[in-house]
Amino acid sequence: MKIVPLAERPDLAEQVSAWGFDEWGHLNQGQTPQTRLAEVRGEMNVDRVPVTFVALGEDGGIVGTAALIFDDLVGDPRNPWLASVYVPPEHRKKGIASALVRAVEGKARELGYARLYLFTTSAPALYAGLGWRALEQRDYRGEHIQVMDKVL
Ligand SMILES: CC(C)(COP(=O)(O)OP(=O)(O)OC[C@H]1O[C@@H](n2cnc3c(N)ncnc32)[C@H](O)[C@@H]1OP(=O)(O)O)[C@@H](O)C(=O)NCCC(=O)NCCS
Repeated sequence: MKIVPLAERPDLAEQVSAWGFDEWGHLNQGQTPQTRLAEVRGEMNVDRVPVTFVALGEDGGIVGTAALIFDDLVGDPRNPWLASVYVPPEHRKKGIASALVRAVEGKARELGYARLYLFTTSAPALYAGLGWRALEQRDYRGEHIQVMDKVL
């Protein structure tokens, strides 16, 4: 498995976008598959935020994705954020998400950030195991979220 910026594999933007829309589209009012795809295409950077990464299997097929973005929680002044961590069901529990999280942390550090944030409804234990610290919990757009941070 290797992790590369989506910019190196623009052919995978539609898959990244489709996963993100199915998983989190409901959190973003007014988002459509088309607007999500445009956003993902706007994250095809290498050395500046926002940058989306993809994990590739032995055959070069996509087995996961994660992104480093500037803003995530609307109205929250903190930045930047680890976001959109997704691994399809058939590839879970093999360490792919953990590797993607580390890749995003590494990129944030390389770009000079000292701290990274995320929010999650589903996977606080995964991040805690990777050294992330739980901050506040709150309701956000109908979901109960846990905000976390990591000093890089
Ligand atoms: C949450 C999600 C990203 C995890 O992806 P993953 O690739 O399965 O994650 P990892 O394999 O790195 O770690 C998952 C667990 O598998 C364990 N694991 C890692 N490698 C393993 C291996 N070789 N054998 C068995 N277990 C393993 C990890 O210890 C971890 O355990 P934990 O959950 O108790 O911490 C994935 O389930 C997903 O995409 N879910 C839907 C979207 C989502 O909720 N995203 C997170 C939003 S913030």
